[in-house]
Amino acid sequence: MGEPRFPEGFLWGASTSAYQIEGSPLADGAGPSNWHRFTQPGGKGAHLAPGGAVACDHYRRWREDLALIRSLGFTSYRFSVSWSRVMPEGRGRVNPAGLDFYRRLVDGLLEAGIRPMTTLFHWDLPAALEDQGGWVNRDTAGWFADYAHTVVQALPGVALWSTLNEPWVVTDAGYLHGDHPPGHRNPAEMPHVAHNLLRAHGMGAQACRAAGARDVGIVINIEPKHPFSYRPEDVAAARRADAYMNRAFLDPLVLGRDPEEMPEIYGAAWPTFPAADYDLIRQPLDHLGLNYYSRSLNVHDPEAPFGQWRAVPHPTHPRTEMDWEVYPEGLTETLLWLRRRYGAIPLYVNENGAAFADPDTAPPEGVRDPLRVDYFRTHLLAVAEAMAQGADVRGYSAWSLLDNFEWAFGFSKRFGIVHVDYATQNRTPKASARFLAEVIATRGACL
Ligand code: NOJ
Repeated sequence: MGEPRFPEGFLWGASTSAYQIEGSPLADGAGPSNWHRFTQPGGKGAHLAPGGAVACDHYRRWREDLALIRSLGFTSYRFSVSWSRVMPEGRGRVNPAGLDFYRRLVDGLLEAGIRPMTTLFHWDLPAALEDQGGWVNRDTAGWFADYAHTVVQALPGVALWSTLNEPWVVTDAGYLHGDHPPGHRNPAEMPHVAHNLLRAHGMGAQACRAAGARDVGIVINIEPKHPFSYRPEDVAAARRADAYMNRAFLDPLVLGRDPEEMPEIYGAAWPTFPAADYDLIRQPLDHLGLNYYSRSLNVHDPEAPFGQWRAVPHPTHPRTEMDWEVYPEGLTETLLWLRRRYGAIPLYVNENGAAFADPDTAPPEGVRDPLRVDYFRTHLLAVAEAMAQGADVRGYSAWSLLDNFEWAFGFSKRFGIVHVDYATQNRTPKASARFLAEVIATRGACL
């Protein structure tokens, strides 16, 4: 075995989110979230979650899950708070029992010496706010800030706060493709949704700090957008795809302006926003969370329903069950690009992992997931390489602690390092969990 590849104090985490694991959506006075309503009988996503109300039953089994996190040696745990547990109507009245759930969890983590990393919005919006226009409504940003203030004040033991998780997905899946709530397909709404999410971050970050948070950031998903060929139109297509997904949030957050390609992408639907909004959006970031899974190859396509580009598969590289290309070099590229374009902000890889086919029931000899092990190994080496080249990476969290509700794919995609048998709720650590435990114990020397 060689030398450790990661410094002492580097945070080793497992990642989850509220709606994907908790279950008990209406317990103890919680209000319905948009995702709860979406997956109810009669909702557009009813087919996704026949057992959606249970998910991983983490709301009731959190002690067992905490023991698992601890037994694998993780030093941090990234989870999200359900807004509608804390504020059943999304604003105004606070539900103390909802806050108590997260208080107990944070206390348990601290007792175990595990650093809590908490996301305030991981896509589950109170249904009551969706009824008032959701992210199209400018007021939602202020309501988010009130909620953020309440949660931060209640959980002083949380080390790192993130306002939003992957706001791009909310815009793209909820308002272009319609496969997340509210299920719209209306590009004219998208700039407003993205802009109000950014304003929510701005007002939310201010509220977090006013409530005592010391380390505040946001979690952004990045996928390098490469041209499929060097034809100028493919190069331009990749540039538009990159602006649309990768720079659309980070440029306003850090540079205080939208990418110059936005009017070209949206045409007449691209609005002009008040200049003062950009000052609000550009709050100092104590850290930046990166979710990385894959890259995409892009071609120019005048027939594409939006933006005139289309992703095409690499002819030979392996793909995961999500049909995402396995491309670890892209993680090094992304970490170095973040540093180059946005400066010296401490970085955390907050999500990285893969869905591969695992059995529904864990066999007696355990769950062997060599492809997932290989995915983690190559991506961790990619992080170490970026650090060797100067990227300031402070932690790495695997997605996900548990197999869970994979949004528009329901329970069909398994990302967990711990297998969940949904019939019994039995948890079985997969080989990838053991592998990560060894990486943590050796600080990467075993890679
Ligand atoms: C990003 C999201 O934050 C998470 O909720 C999701 O399950 C994973 N990616 C995998 O798609």
